[in-house]
Amino acid sequence: MQRLNNKILIIKGIRGTLLFLALFFYTFSFSQKEKKPKDLSKIVKTWAQSDVYPDHVVLSAPEDPTTAIGINWRTSPTDKIGYVEIAVSYGTPYFASRSQRINAEKINYDTSINLDDGFESSFYGITIKDLKPNTLYAYRVGNDLFKSEWFQFKTAGNPKKEPYSFIYVGDAQNYILELWSRLIRTAFKTMPEAKFIIHAGDLVNYAHSETEWNDWFDAGGFIHSEIPTIAVPGNHEYSPYKKGRNVFGEKKFLSMQWQRQFSFPENGPVKLNETCYYIDYSDLKVIALNSNLEIKLQSKWLKKVLAQNNKKWIVVTYHHPAFSASRKEGNEEIIKYWKPLFEEYNVDLALQGHDHAYTRGAVYTKELKNEYLKGPVYVVSVSGGKMYKLSSEGWDKFGAVKNKKGQYLQLFQVITIDDNKLFYKSYTASGKLFDSFELEKKEGKRQYFK
Ligand SMILES: [Fe+2]
Repeated sequence: MQRLNNKILIIKGIRGTLLFLALFFYTFSFSQKEKKPKDLSKIVKTWAQSDVYPDHVVLSAPEDPTTAIGINWRTSPTDKIGYVEIAVSYGTPYFASRSQRINAEKINYDTSINLDDGFESSFYGITIKDLKPNTLYAYRVGNDLFKSEWFQFKTAGNPKKEPYSFIYVGDAQNYILELWSRLIRTAFKTMPEAKFIIHAGDLVNYAHSETEWNDWFDAGGFIHSEIPTIAVPGNHEYSPYKKGRNVFGEKKFLSMQWQRQFSFPENGPVKLNETCYYIDYSDLKVIALNSNLEIKLQSKWLKKVLAQNNKKWIVVTYHHPAFSASRKEGNEEIIKYWKPLFEEYNVDLALQGHDHAYTRGAVYTKELKNEYLKGPVYVVSVSGGKMYKLSSEGWDKFGAVKNKKGQYLQLFQVITIDDNKLFYKSYTASGKLFDSFELEKKEGKRQYFK
């Protein structure tokens, strides 16, 4: 009987312990759930909000990078004044004693008017002129109370003196902080001396989102503040103001941030201010086109710019590809209005985005059994985390030939120009060489080593 009682006590003890443990784990897991924020978007909004400390400091490539630079940044709306301090950079920390102070234009803007994740900020922008060519400058931005760190950049040198490189990336757009960060940082480590970075549209997914732009600035960090940006708007830089109302037929507007946070050259059609423009870097002309609208109007401007060009190399960049990497169709308007001009004026490279896959190729002409390029080498590339499957169609019917294809890869490109030669290299986000080719100009002809 005593044994039986002992057994009952032991069983009761085990049951009690199990019950206690179950209760403990339930309470613990419940309290963990309780600790999760109820509204994550509020925390993200707070994180993305402007502060008294300047952030989103970005350089924009100007028309003449030998003597000028565009500088923009963001702070809280309470700021009354914002200025740039700029000086020739030396090794000594006392270089700043010779700095010049230049007031910037301020635009207060309240993105919360139309947005859930918006808030009021001060946007500052200025194009600084009369700089010395081929000179390393240090600059910082802010006001008397709050200033950024000193950043550095180098103005362009005179043509033909030395080889130079630049980076080109397709759509960042999705998973920007999560996945584009590793891409742009690997690109920087691969070519830290890049003179500028070309972004071929769809930098963000929702045009007006402060959170997404904040992702873009955080992912790039000081790279945006030290290497000038050249960017064209993609279709995702045009959206209706209300998020989630991106329905067919609703009026779309250029990203509210675009002209406030960049200072691109104002040398394009007035209607397309800072979305269609050109830059002259050394012996290269970079022409940025807006493939979202006014294709025909831009062709008149493009013809004039190309006819007046005296640079050896010509690179065009725009978002929607002439020949698609992941769709069956090409872009008929671009093929009709821009492609003939690319061919007439021997444009060398067309750097495009939009298709979330990779294709590189060209249109050829045959002369005396030799094959020559007709117009540019066309590239479609993607840098962010969203991927599309390659299409096997879409080039042949336009007389274009694919030389290299790739899918499900985050890629960046480094392009180096050395007098009569252009070297193109495409790398994966892990830094592995994925594609390469060369162009050479010889006796009035272009050789394409594909
Ligand atoms: Fe796109």
